[in-house]
Amino acid sequence: MESVREFFDHQYRRHRRYWWREDNRYSLDPRDHTAFNGQALRLAAARGPGRALDVGAGEGADSIRLAKLGYEVDAVELSAVACEKIERFAHAEGVRLNVRNESAHTARLGQGRYDVVVLNGLLHYIDDKEDLLHRASRASIFGALHVISLFSTATPLPYEHAAVGVFPDSEQGAVERFYQGNRTLIRMYERAKPETSHPGFSEHVHSYIKLIANHSGDQTCHPQPI
Ligand SMILES: C[S@@+](CC[C@H](N)C(=O)[O-])C[C@H]1O[C@@H](n2cnc3c(N)ncnc32)[C@H](O)[C@@H]1O
Repeated sequence: MESVREFFDHQYRRHRRYWWREDNRYSLDPRDHTAFNGQALRLAAARGPGRALDVGAGEGADSIRLAKLGYEVDAVELSAVACEKIERFAHAEGVRLNVRNESAHTARLGQGRYDVVVLNGLLHYIDDKEDLLHRASRASIFGALHVISLFSTATPLPYEHAAVGVFPDSEQGAVERFYQGNRTLIRMYERAKPETSHPGFSEHVHSYIKLIANHSGDQTCHPQPI
């Protein structure tokens, strides 16, 4: 089985743009995006500018939009090929980002630093989701916006995605339990959505859990006394 890093290096090298191939990719108008991404943009715009962390940043579209909104952005990404593309695409858009070619498993995320945390399409590559969510929570200020999107188990994993280790979560599973007690702003389940975003793959469907929450303390870290 290919490693996640090899898989994404290969895909990002093969395609000039692997994600966000439409011209709307850096638009700051929420109406130019899907309902979920549009809401994330609207909420980030309403609170910004501040500091943002985008883990599993891919080719950097979320990071670049946040930078355009005035955020100081740390983009953490496993694939070196993707990191080079984030730098190049950000430069072309006239924004600066702090790009870190590191794994989410080992990256130091710091404490009480971020106003916005984006984990868009990352958590299904992470087996121990709680560990990363704890670290992302510690890295957040109180009330930070957390934007989360990952594969759910509502439909079987498409064959193409089984090339690397993928760990979808169940609806109302570990990720949602982690955010219990935080203010949920958006929670959406997409089921069997036809996927057209990756070039070169045969037709397939995905199911997603999409969540936007106001982080209000690491509930699972600090249980209330009884
Ligand atoms: C589905 S893509 C999403 C990219 C981007 N967030 C977006 O929405 O366009 C997932 C990204 O997570 C990255 N990734 C996977 N495992 C990672 C890890 N352990 N640490 C950091 N990045 C990782 C992959 O290299 C890939 O770029």
